[in-house]
Amino acid sequence: MVWLSKIGVIGAGAMGHGIAEVLAFSGFKVVMKDIEDRFVQAGMKGIDGILQDRVAKGKMTPEQKKQVMDRVTGITTYDGFDDVDVVIEAVLEVIDVKKKVFKELDQVCPQKTILATNTSSLSISEMGAATKRPRKVIGMHFFNPAPAMKLVEVVPGMDTSQDTVDAIVELAEKCKKIPVVVKESPGFLVNRLLMPVLLEAVRALDEGIAPARDIDLAMKAGAGFPMGPFELADMVGVDICLEVAETMHQQFGDPRFAPPPRLRNMVKSGRLGRKTGRGFYEYAKEE
Ligand code: 3HC
Repeated sequence: MVWLSKIGVIGAGAMGHGIAEVLAFSGFKVVMKDIEDRFVQAGMKGIDGILQDRVAKGKMTPEQKKQVMDRVTGITTYDGFDDVDVVIEAVLEVIDVKKKVFKELDQVCPQKTILATNTSSLSISEMGAATKRPRKVIGMHFFNPAPAMKLVEVVPGMDTSQDTVDAIVELAEKCKKIPVVVKESPGFLVNRLLMPVLLEAVRALDEGIAPARDIDLAMKAGAGFPMGPFELADMVGVDICLEVAETMHQQFGDPRFAPPPRLRNMVKSGRLGRKTGRGFYEYAKEE
């Protein structure tokens, strides 16, 4: 795939900067955009931290780290998007926000550019319809933490061309990921299977079946999960889990994926997980 060399990433949050790191580490030039400089700087710091961990483990030299960092440009405008081959959008999971971003990208990027979204559960076809290039709009769903998780769900919309699917599968493979092409449907594949576990864990907690620690322990020691459902929700973000569950609930209809009230109350009270210092668990400030 000689023609893919420069990739745009929209959003420098946990997923955006994680994806940018994966791409830069794999040799691509990356331009990462967010709406405010403080978000861009936090994202750049995040990438630096991931690479620094590799240096500390002896998996990379400081010189190699510098070469990767040099491939990433952080920006608050669309400067540099006039020659990107692919853009991966990782902004808020709000369809109107995503459609606005896709409209803007359609205007600033060349005709050849593939516009991919990291959405967890929103409609790829709807984002495609916001552009004049629905054949080149596709889902490319990474998992948190993007540098560590191998899977990428590749999700064609109703109008996505096979060439676009093939290019994104190849891009994922170039990044040493495992791409799986899945049909556009609520929550795609992983969230459809994972969310019931997270939501049922919250219900079990509400029913006093066991404390959060024990529920997590049970799923690790008894079901082989690498993290318990509450540890995972705190890492992914309780707000993100709620958004995904709500979208799937709306699309599948009652009672499937109905979010327990505790999730809404946690989001309202700022218990979003690690990023706010408390979720199902409390975290020391530096986490
Ligand atoms: N950022 C970058 N790299 C990370 C990382 C992070 N936040 N956390 C861990 N890693 C890397 C480590 O550096 C290490 O790399 P190495 O093998 O090159 O040394 C590797 O991952 C393994 O890490 P550790 O040895 O420190 O720890 P673990 O073996 O416990 O693995 C984990 C950590 C990979 C996060 C593992 O606990 C895990 O797989 N957890 C489940 C995560 C999961 O299910 N994610 C999906 C969430 S759902 C989602 O994202 C969908 C969305 O739409 C909601």
